[in-house]
Amino acid sequence: MPNPNRPLRIHHIAIAVPDAAAALTFWRDALGLEVGAVHDEPAQGVAVTFLPVGEGAIELVEPTDAASGIARFVASRGPGMHHVCLEVDDLDAAVVHLKGRGVRLITEAPVSNSSGRRLIFVHPSATGGVLVELYDSLGADASKRP
Ligand code: CO
Repeated sequence: MPNPNRPLRIHHIAIAVPDAAAALTFWRDALGLEVGAVHDEPAQGVAVTFLPVGEGAIELVEPTDAASGIARFVASRGPGMHHVCLEVDDLDAAVVHLKGRGVRLITEAPVSNSSGRRLIFVHPSATGGVLVELYDSLGADASKRP
């Protein structure tokens, strides 16, 4: 059955880095992207820096807690691509649809980030090896993005 809540767009591509300030020497200074929203996500033990590109963004994810998943990821695999985030029109409906197809999710239900954005992660075993984040759409309220 087709997913009635198929993704609307790529919201961001996330890169795990040990030091976001150092990574900005490429992404901001050399490449020329502008820094957008920057915030701490203490619940995940990370600080994130968004650099908008067209309709999407690059998200630099830096560990702020040595026990965080990102810190373990960087320690074991080194810096690199961490996840792809797709925005969906109705996250709750998308979750019901994916569960109905037996797709493995990281959490049972959506969670909210520090900006109030509702999201859920899909396990890499279900996606071809890439962690996929699904963002709930903010609808017309684009001023809140990301
Ligand atoms: Co993300």
